[in-house]
Amino acid sequence: MPIKRERWINRPAFVFAAIGSAAGLGNAWRFPYIAYQNGGGAFLIPFFIALFTAGIPLLILEYGLGQKMQAGAPGALGRIKKSWEGLGWWAVFIGFVIMSYYAVIMAWTWNYIYASLSVAWEGRVLEFFYRDVLNSTDGPLQLGPISVPVLIGLLLTWFLIWLILRRGVKFLGKVVLITVPLPIILLLILGVRAVTLPGSMEGLTYYLQPDFRALLDYNVWVAAYSQVFFTLSVGFGVMIAYASYLPRKSDINNNAIITALADAGISFLAGFVVFGTLGYMAGAQNVDVGQVVEEGIGLAFIAYPEAISLLPFGAAFFGFIFFFTLLTLGIDSAFSLAESVITGLDDKFKLSRPIWVTLVCTFGFLVGLIFSTGAGLWWLDIVDHFVNNFGLAAVGLLECLLIGWVYRAEKMRNYVNPVSDVKLGKWWDIMIKYVTPLILGISIILTLSERLMVPYRDYPAISLLLGGWMVVLLLIPVALIFARKKASRPGFLQPPQ
Ligand code: TRP
Repeated sequence: MPIKRERWINRPAFVFAAIGSAAGLGNAWRFPYIAYQNGGGAFLIPFFIALFTAGIPLLILEYGLGQKMQAGAPGALGRIKKSWEGLGWWAVFIGFVIMSYYAVIMAWTWNYIYASLSVAWEGRVLEFFYRDVLNSTDGPLQLGPISVPVLIGLLLTWFLIWLILRRGVKFLGKVVLITVPLPIILLLILGVRAVTLPGSMEGLTYYLQPDFRALLDYNVWVAAYSQVFFTLSVGFGVMIAYASYLPRKSDINNNAIITALADAGISFLAGFVVFGTLGYMAGAQNVDVGQVVEEGIGLAFIAYPEAISLLPFGAAFFGFIFFFTLLTLGIDSAFSLAESVITGLDDKFKLSRPIWVTLVCTFGFLVGLIFSTGAGLWWLDIVDHFVNNFGLAAVGLLECLLIGWVYRAEKMRNYVNPVSDVKLGKWWDIMIKYVTPLILGISIILTLSERLMVPYRDYPAISLLLGGWMVVLLLIPVALIFARKKASRPGFLQPPQ
């Protein structure tokens, strides 16, 4: 007899956890910039179309799969067809790689939280980030020593993740009731501060001024679809694992819509914080807003802290709030990735859950050490680029093909509809069988051809080969080995009755 599966305490616990996973650093540092670059306010149109034609359908697919099969990605896919278990492991392992560097970004964040108390970066943002925190070298091939501040932050992060996950999803459900609303409240505080600063309106104009001609550019559509997939955390088994702890009669469709809309709302809100504040900085420095906008790491750890240090008052306070927001936004994404790995392993191999949690956290910490060296930032950037661009799209595409064509979309729809408040029509089958895979396929071809023609940034070819192509490809045989291993939990590949 398989042991009884653990359960979320209630529906909000699951929905909060899913929102927590979806709402991460990407909402704060990716969405606002992508919107600004791709038509401003007009970007909302392709974004919402992408959300409803691909993002939500894929989310429903992953929720449905996890809940129906009552297993994480490897078990759930393997229960549909044994030969597909490997895809589940691949997804989970790609998630593991992401997690290992996501935790390092959390480690930097701890340092900035501490530094905010004295606004230690004031007047020297670049030096503070590259030298004091990272102790960066000149390129990926010069490894350099492990940065002590990053190491301390990394230990702290993993200890926290370990504490939270060790006690299972019941406890997790309580944690997310705090770590999900908190960053929203903090973003509201930062947002009010931002839009009341002089010059903030210039920033917001940059963010939102609609350029409807952008809708004719296919790049804008590609950007919208990739942002939607990225922000919803699909493709790495997280949502499958989370949904596998739901009883089989739980709602799916409405939960997916709530998750997606809440996540989109957080992104939109973050844009006001980012652009309002950057607008102020541009005004204060008498430059054009376009000259100070940044995305990603450069936004969070360089441009934004610089703007904070120029605030008329309360720099330490707002700096602290900002980095605390990043920490609480990111931490639930980080532990969701860990949970996906843990669920996958725990479903198949007999060891107690706390032991899996300890193993995965330790291993995640060890891999994170690479990203904590002087060359860590460069490797992080390379791995992140490849894993997110190819890994996510490839897994999503294969998931759609397996569920849409092998298992049959209609069969999944007939499972999710009776348990859900909102019913799906035949349109969902079309999205899963044709539209979503087509978009994912196109985006793979586009990024692939781009990468083959122009190397990513100006990194040495060998580092791109190692950190990019090798990481993505080497995980395939590893996944297959795990899929071939004999399960030590009885009934691993038997679908629940
Ligand atoms: N959605 C997260 C963000 O916006 C990032 C992310 C992408 C992620 N895929 C994921 C997080 C899978 C957890 C699991 O920042």
